[in-house]
Amino acid sequence: MRRKFIRSLSSMACLFCLLSAQARTTHNVSMPVETQKDIINTPHIAWERKGDFTVGKSTFLLNGEPFVIKAAELHYPRIPKPYWDQRIKLCKALGMNTICLYVFWNSHEQRPGEFDFTGQNDLAEFCRLCQQNDMYVILRPGPYVCAEWEMGGLPWWLLKKKDIRLRERDPYFMERVGIFEKAVAGQVANLTIQNGGPIIMVQVENEYGSYGEDKEYVSQVRDMVRANYPGVTLFQCDWASNFTLNGLDDLVWTMNFGTGANVDQQFAKLKELRPDSPLMCSEFWSGWFDKWGANHETRPAADMIQGLDEMLSKNISFSLYMTHGGTNWGHWAGANSPGFAPDVTSYDYDAPISESGQTTPKYWELRKALGKYMNGKKQAKVPALIKPISIPAFQFTEMAPLFENLPAAKKDRNIRTMEEYDQGFGSILYRTTLPEMKSPSLLTVNDAHDYTQVFLDGKYIGKLDRRNGEKQLEFPACRKGAQLDILVEAMGRINFGRAIKDFKGITRNVELTMDVDGRPFTCDLKDWEVYNLEDTYDFYKGMKFRPISSLKDDLGQRIPGCYRATFNVKKPSDTFLNFETWGKGLVYVNGYALGRIWEIGPQQTLYIPGCWLKEGENEVLVFDIVGPREAKSEGLKEPLLDQLLVKKPLIHRNEGEQLDLSGEKEVLSGSFKPGNGWQEVKFDQPVTGRYICFEALSAQDGKNLACIAEMYLLNEDGERLSREPWIVNYADSEDVSHVNCSADKIFDLQESTYWSTTQEAQYPHAIVIDLGGTHTLTGLQYLPRMESEVPGGIKDFKVYVKSQEFKF
Ligand code: GLA
Repeated sequence: MRRKFIRSLSSMACLFCLLSAQARTTHNVSMPVETQKDIINTPHIAWERKGDFTVGKSTFLLNGEPFVIKAAELHYPRIPKPYWDQRIKLCKALGMNTICLYVFWNSHEQRPGEFDFTGQNDLAEFCRLCQQNDMYVILRPGPYVCAEWEMGGLPWWLLKKKDIRLRERDPYFMERVGIFEKAVAGQVANLTIQNGGPIIMVQVENEYGSYGEDKEYVSQVRDMVRANYPGVTLFQCDWASNFTLNGLDDLVWTMNFGTGANVDQQFAKLKELRPDSPLMCSEFWSGWFDKWGANHETRPAADMIQGLDEMLSKNISFSLYMTHGGTNWGHWAGANSPGFAPDVTSYDYDAPISESGQTTPKYWELRKALGKYMNGKKQAKVPALIKPISIPAFQFTEMAPLFENLPAAKKDRNIRTMEEYDQGFGSILYRTTLPEMKSPSLLTVNDAHDYTQVFLDGKYIGKLDRRNGEKQLEFPACRKGAQLDILVEAMGRINFGRAIKDFKGITRNVELTMDVDGRPFTCDLKDWEVYNLEDTYDFYKGMKFRPISSLKDDLGQRIPGCYRATFNVKKPSDTFLNFETWGKGLVYVNGYALGRIWEIGPQQTLYIPGCWLKEGENEVLVFDIVGPREAKSEGLKEPLLDQLLVKKPLIHRNEGEQLDLSGEKEVLSGSFKPGNGWQEVKFDQPVTGRYICFEALSAQDGKNLACIAEMYLLNEDGERLSREPWIVNYADSEDVSHVNCSADKIFDLQESTYWSTTQEAQYPHAIVIDLGGTHTLTGLQYLPRMESEVPGGIKDFKVYVKSQEFKF
């Protein structure tokens, strides 16, 4: 980039080494906090060399010269700080010229007005490291980012204003966005290319088209960003199908799409509207993220290489999301919707650089492919990799039972959410006493978020898992004054779609329905004692531990609480702690928050970066809300990311089931056109029902395969019906052999994932959906797969709508 400038930084480089070395010895649990005022007043340093990055005719221009962005997406909070430099070098060695990064609002402003840009959060230092490595930076400061990160990056405390309208022109939301954006700019506005720094472009909002249509809101965010980074090129990213909804005239428009997509099709609309615009895929998805209880996701390297090769051969810029995913440390993993699908701790993403910074076969193939586009320059050397170690198996020796270690209680007549008690993360215990109940009753918890365990007089009764929509439990007879405990663990807040307003704890009320003189009688339980169990190392560490051996009487029972062990390390290096025998909870090593564990998998190990380990004795602390089957662990050299405890049926058809449509009358019989892109068909007249069957009769290419990326139904007003309550009742065939192509992918809000039948299964193909309620329907919208040949594109089809379930 700028040789002279880099030389002048060499003395600073030593300082960085020093800072990194220091960072190894400090804990990230008690980061110093700077005030908002200090940050905003940080003076802007004038840098030595200045440049510009602008938009020319069909190309970006770097200092006046055509420039193709080859960006690697990395998120600094997901990578241990001492490894930042090595990870940037790994990206550089691929042949990339830019690092693209998000700024997660909630990790920088954990309490309103208290900003933290130190340690792991030192955004400016990360940008300077990029520059030292001759890499440009694309900054994506939200305010919303998605990214499978808690609440899509928004701080939970916004929810303390219960009626807040997130990502809209709510005055309080906009005020807080303004303060946050100023604080970020206070750190990095002096690092734009115009100031001699590495930042070439700044993004405005994130994929707003998949949230709503509100150009005025997006314009207000743009104005804030523009005022903070004067003269810098600003851009928006969205999907080819919806970017016009919020596209602002004076911003660059870029498209997001995954591997395999038909590149020309993705840019067709943009080229039509702005024939002279430079083209950029701002998120080209190299892999995908994992959810608890679902199969590990992978994507073939060949599709990624093919797509990048095609884009580069056409001078199309890209950012490879993710080039290195890293880790959702602590409680930062988000959750997806529709439904509730919490993300795992690892953000490996099946990316070219693994979660722990190892090169994968994908990495080497990618390096080879990008080698063709170096304009005669040599690719940088691949930096040394970290050699993982194993740690011999060790036992946990101490534990602190949760129910003996509760903090002081708050008293409340009505139940309230965590946010109303000023709690952001962790678990919450609601306790009350019960009237005498001579026979069993039914306990209904009106919407507990997220994982609930119910205890009667200290004895475990059952659980309610939000992922499965569970709300009710059979409750045994009990004495007058018996103690009811409802322990609710919050997982990540939803990071995608309208459901991001995701309160934690119990969101409404708790009811008991009992039999009184032969008739059901429901009572709304009142008068609670509430215990806020904040997820902090200090809270866990402060518990009263006792030897596990003293719990002999409870042997065989799984006891919720905190478990502590020490293990010895001769020479610290990366390792993967095995939690296969544990229940569900959060893990800390030497005070560092490693992340969530859950026995259901698919992730069974947690990554510990060697830079957080010490020579000699190290402490591990597990807060397990279920309790382990065996309190032991060991360090492995390889992660276990693909082990579901109970193999969940991935398909929606039981053995021997066969859909019977004889005697059913279709409401529509039609044919789709060939090609990519959305298509809409209308029914002859409105129909009312709860169950819909879509039957595909033939394929455009005459082969066996049927695929659908997304499908919507239209209501009486011709608007899209909410797919939130949809459930797949039946699908004749689903290919889950190497990628999850199950039928529910047609309403997962993600255009890049799809339902696919297996190669062998023959037409007709059918899928049956329970809409969760009765609706009047007027038509449907269909999105085929995004690849150029549109594999599995459907031609002839029929639609059936019924009030009763279909027979199969
Ligand atoms: C979208 C978002 C990203 C991320 C990806 C999926 O493109 O913009 O933040 O959530 O989806 O990984």
